Amino acid sequence: MKKINIAFDGPAASGKTTVAISVAKKIGWLFVDTGAMYRAVTWLALKNNIDISDKDSVIKLAKENPVILKQDFSLPSGCRVYIADNDITTEIKSAGVNKNVSDVAKISEVRKCLVAQQKKMAENGGVIMVGRDITTVVMPNAELKIYLDASVEERAKRRFKEEIESGKDVKFEDIKKSIENRDKIDSEREDSPLKASEDSIILDSTNMTAEQVIDEVVKLVEERGK
Ligand code: DC
Repeated sequence: MKKINIAFDGPAASGKTTVAISVAKKIGWLFVDTGAMYRAVTWLALKNNIDISDKDSVIKLAKENPVILKQDFSLPSGCRVYIADNDITTEIKSAGVNKNVSDVAKISEVRKCLVAQQKKMAENGGVIMVGRDITTVVMPNAELKIYLDASVEERAKRRFKEEIESGKDVKFEDIKKSIENRDKIDSEREDSPLKASEDSIILDSTNMTAEQVIDEVVKLVEERGK
């Protein structure tokens, strides 16, 4: 099969990462979670006590500290995440990062810096990349573009189940509010807002199992990679 690039966009907790990891495992290509990169910069800013509204300091941090992703399919996240010599694979999912990451992702100069790193990763093909602007900005020429959607209720249910299963003490309503808040900021921001590109295939997974979505995507990859 030809090594094509596959771009996934969609709102928070739409299942993009789960689906992309499974597809990457099946076909043996490189999985790139770009949300983890925005989370890494956010984590470093919080660790250095930088106020996220101090854009210049956040930009400086992003420029000076490249994010390193190492594929590791033994982890549910599919990769280890490093910044400034710290392994922050677990910390990037903390409540503090969740709360601030959409504001970091609004900063154009931070986006420019991370998008440049992402474009480089996709240069040789065979990349499965997940985010909010992958079909529109990072890989507009990807051979396969998918916008994975689901109702907010269903997405909150899935995220709630994941958190409870990983031992966290969380409330469903708080998770739903956090998802709604991130969706609002991500889709209303000026630079690269979340939206489906005109040539994306839109998959609504509200009433589909993860396996059904994965099978559908693998079918599409096989068709496009012929
Ligand atoms: O996919 P995620 O929840 O880990 O993303 C974290 C945040 O980063 C979310 O607010 C959207 C933003 N993001 C973005 O703006 N562009 C991307 N390519 C990936 C994520």
